[in-house]
Amino acid sequence: MGTSAYIDDLALAQRLADIADAITLDRYLAQDLVITTKPDNTPVTDADRATEQAITAAITKERPNDGVVGEEFGKTNENAARYWVIDPIDGTKNFMRGVPTWATLIGLIERSSEGSERVVAGVVSAPALARRWYASEGSGAYVIFNNGVPRKISVSQVSAISDASITYSDFAGWNEKLASFRKLLDDSWRTRGLGDFWSHMLVAEGAVDVAIEPSLALWDMAALDIIVREAGGEFSGTNGISGPFQRSGLSTNGILHKKIVEALA
Ligand code: IPD
Ligand code: CA
Ligand code: CA
Repeated sequence: MGTSAYIDDLALAQRLADIADAITLDRYLAQDLVITTKPDNTPVTDADRATEQAITAAITKERPNDGVVGEEFGKTNENAARYWVIDPIDGTKNFMRGVPTWATLIGLIERSSEGSERVVAGVVSAPALARRWYASEGSGAYVIFNNGVPRKISVSQVSAISDASITYSDFAGWNEKLASFRKLLDDSWRTRGLGDFWSHMLVAEGAVDVAIEPSLALWDMAALDIIVREAGGEFSGTNGISGPFQRSGLSTNGILHKKIVEALA
């Protein structure tokens, strides 16, 4: 696909992010925010639900042939050749406590005729941080700060684990890989538990070198995958298999990717 193939899709993704920002920012820090617990024992707020419903309604109107996979309401138009993957609020626990590190994640996945799937466009909008990242296939990755001029971003050049800055979510969910994860952190130059989309977007910006999360869903990763790759990095599961389909997420500057996968194996 050529550089301009996804311009319209990216423009739609930006409009979807604008719709999301209006809802999420209005409910962030609201005294009457309604928080309920989902069957998987994780919290969800009225803002998560309202945001996903508004995004899905806009996609259904503008792209009736496309599918949607959302965290809160599941799948629409399941057999479509292309589908939008929505995490209405990534970092709900931050959102509901007043930590500004949360974002709406919007990814577009295309299915090829052989059945393989790849992310072709993505937007990560973090309005409480006044930041938005976006990318589409072949067009590079960008960040906008405070509604300013888009800045092209690219990953770092760090090549040794001993020089690397590694970010992660927390120590939960590592199971049998916990010991190798801790050793990897000990062997690195610097570590911070920044978490969520934020770790991965800082890899895309070249501000850190590695972001790792052991337990994720497709909606946590689709938008991150294309932004990290278009910034020159690599995105895979912690097993090293490329793409956002592995139920874990590893972003690196590319140079370090194999070393990190080996260290975690
Ligand atoms: C969570 C974040 C977090 C990850 C959790 C996810 P949510 O998403 O992506 O980084 O560690 O597994 O559930 O629930 O805030 O959208
Ligand atoms: Ca999430
Ligand atoms: Ca979420």
